[in-house]
Amino acid sequence: MSTLPLFSKIISRRSLYLFSAATLAGAATVAATAATVDNRKQYNYGNRNQNNNNKSGWSLFGASSVAAAAPIVHIAALNKDRKIDDYQRIYNKIAEKIREEDEYDGYIGYGPILVRLGWHSSGTYDKTNNSGGSYGGTYRFKLESSDPSNNGLQNAAKFLDPIYKEFNWISHGDLYTLGAVCAVQEAQGPKIPWRPGRVDLPETETPANGRLPDANNGADYVRNFYARLRMNDREAVALTGAHCLGRTHYKNSGFDGPWGAASNSFTNEFFVNLLNEQWKLEKNKSGNYQYDSPKGYMMLKTDYALIQDPSYLKIVKEFANDEASFFKEFASSFQKLLENGIDYPKGAPQYIFKTLDEQDI
Ligand code: HEM
Repeated sequence: MSTLPLFSKIISRRSLYLFSAATLAGAATVAATAATVDNRKQYNYGNRNQNNNNKSGWSLFGASSVAAAAPIVHIAALNKDRKIDDYQRIYNKIAEKIREEDEYDGYIGYGPILVRLGWHSSGTYDKTNNSGGSYGGTYRFKLESSDPSNNGLQNAAKFLDPIYKEFNWISHGDLYTLGAVCAVQEAQGPKIPWRPGRVDLPETETPANGRLPDANNGADYVRNFYARLRMNDREAVALTGAHCLGRTHYKNSGFDGPWGAASNSFTNEFFVNLLNEQWKLEKNKSGNYQYDSPKGYMMLKTDYALIQDPSYLKIVKEFANDEASFFKEFASSFQKLLENGIDYPKGAPQYIFKTLDEQDI
């Protein structure tokens, strides 16, 4: 028998956020259902959340991840005082800092690692109980950031630190995901529609280590992994195309090398290289197996699996031949990844940010 949440609301003196009447009604309905199913045990985020950076001043209509099968509810908190211009200002700060600190990682810059932070802070999602994901901004806790799969991401978190301090009204989850959206767009990638409303959850809600993918695997593993994130084959292939950005580092993952030549532009190069390079499976200096090409590019086993599996291969060919089709699928899949597990109230705003170039900055 599952344990279900008590939906509770605490309004602090500093409260800035308003839920619509529809949201309250919706939450109340879920709460009522929950109460009928199981009222033996109740969790109240409100009492546990107040010392944990819940800057919204609201506690959550949420549930604890304590019970394995509990359907966790994460409702986006709408802040009616903040408009697109407020978020565009943060976007611009991140974009300008990416431009200014372009020497990072051998002149690749911070874009790729910001994309990876946004994805890793979302990639802990588990559809079976709606736990993990970007909502609670739990990457900020050591328990999550010290997961070996997150090695190296502290550089991205440090990069965002001063921005978090300057815009102290934004939640960590919103900042990590906005950073990733900004990095994709500033690398000439597709526009990624983005919605605010993630709320910092307490450390107790941090998902256990081990939910992020292991690169030493083939197609069956990849398909199962992405299924946990509610992603089908097309979405899985599109998301992996983000490996056009950045590179692997021995010190972080035990792999070495970039996937292609243009590590700071968002293109369909990953798919083109996957199909056209001469790949050879080799044991690297860390003792891990990776596919290497004469041009000095690499592929992880999970990348290479996309041309070994017939269903994946068809999609790889499509994206290699048609960059617009890749961009379209990437935009919708990445938005879905960053929003997994979040309920957006009716009328929740969705923003599409302008790049610095579009603003002539
Ligand atoms: C099966 C799925 C995946 C596996 C096994 C995987 C694995 C890895 C590994 C091992 C690295 C190297 C980290 C390092 O050594 O610094 C990496 C880097 C990266 N990954 Fe993935 N990844 C996966 C999916 C994704 C997805 C879905 C995205 C984004 C949508 C993504 C974006 C990136 C980016 C941008 C980098 C480069 C980071 C940098 O240059 O510092 N990956 N990935």
